[in-house]
Amino acid sequence: MRKEVVLLPGDGVGQEIMKGARTVLETVASEYDHEFVFHEHAIGGDAIDRYGVPLPDDTVKACEAADAVLLGAVGGPKWDDMPADKRPEKGLLGIRKRLGLFANLRPVQGFGPLVHASPLKTELVDGCDILIVRELTGGLYFGEPSGRSEDGQSVVDTLSYTREEIERIVEKGFEAAQMRSGHLTSVDKANVLESSRMWREVVNEKAADYPDVTVEHQLVDSAAMKLITNPKHFDVIVTENLFGDILSDEASVLTGSLGMLPSASVRTDGVGLYEPVHGSAPDIAGHGIVNPLGMILSTAMMLKYSFGMEKEAEDIERAVSQTLVDGYHTRDLDVEGGKVVDTESMIGKVIDHLSTESISNSICSSYM
Ligand code: NAD
Ligand code: IPM
Ligand code: MN
Repeated sequence: MRKEVVLLPGDGVGQEIMKGARTVLETVASEYDHEFVFHEHAIGGDAIDRYGVPLPDDTVKACEAADAVLLGAVGGPKWDDMPADKRPEKGLLGIRKRLGLFANLRPVQGFGPLVHASPLKTELVDGCDILIVRELTGGLYFGEPSGRSEDGQSVVDTLSYTREEIERIVEKGFEAAQMRSGHLTSVDKANVLESSRMWREVVNEKAADYPDVTVEHQLVDSAAMKLITNPKHFDVIVTENLFGDILSDEASVLTGSLGMLPSASVRTDGVGLYEPVHGSAPDIAGHGIVNPLGMILSTAMMLKYSFGMEKEAEDIERAVSQTLVDGYHTRDLDVEGGKVVDTESMIGKVIDHLSTESISNSICSSYM
């Protein structure tokens, strides 16, 4: 298969982790006789520095024409004082909106060797497997009006949703629950927000179309508490944009590090954008120590969801898992007796497990 992939490395550690994604894809291509054609484009602070805007038209056009898009991360202190429309984050929000990527799927799955890397008790974390379905193109992030009054003394952001916007993301939540263990938790703030009351109404209506799914509603504040006191309670969580943003960083603690979480930003059909959940990590950027696994696992999601390459995606997931079983990890993970390596070595270890030789060895050893 031949696929055109747009790479948007962005800022900070974005550049470092994108190298890993690219090397992994090149290895998969040679193992499976695929051809991935890469087109690198600017976004975020990098685009501001080079073109004066966080999302150049060229970048949007390239993404629209691509089979899939991979994004590293955007943002950093260098651009923190820019006006709202010239912030790197506007580039990311803009590309999600322009491509209509209303659903952000954030799987939170622990890897066996990392259960002790979480600050939470092992028995709470072991076997955790959650999918957060986050609404991505509405809510407080995009509602109008948003801004400051002329005298600078008051400010407004607007949380707005149309019924249709809620329906389509709630459907995604139900579909995901159907494909998993049939348990959907809808998270809202219906005791306070009108938008949440409409959200809850839609969930209850849609429930009739998915009789095989058990639905529960939870308020976001107590859901945040339950996520770390009883994470195994959850299977699929569907929630609005800001709640999903916050809960997913919180949930990453179950896996040992924010650097472990991949994500897929998708619409009903058409191009998808794959991005780790973490940001540009300015505190460690340029030191060669960033965890590349969230980005690498995002490429696996791309292969599975955008290209239907299930087996290739599983190979990547297995290579990541075997690398961790071998004891290798970057220093964001605290594993007793583990071997701390830098980003490049970590990528190299994953690649070693992706090569034909190691795949056939692992098949042999599984029969022994
Ligand atoms: P962050 O996710 O960049 O970092 C939070 C903490 O986690 C930092 O201590 C960082 O070193 C660590 N961390 C994150 N990813 C890691 C990885 N892969 N390996 C090892 N450690 C990792 O969040 P922040 O510091 O709040 O934000 C920094 C910038 O990133 C801001 O400008 C923010 O807007 C932006 N941001 C971008 C995205 C994105 O592009 N998708 C997501 C979140 C934040
Ligand atoms: C994320 C990030 C973004 C978001 C920011 C950088 C705009 O935190 O992808 O989780 O809030 O959606
Ligand atoms: Mn976030």
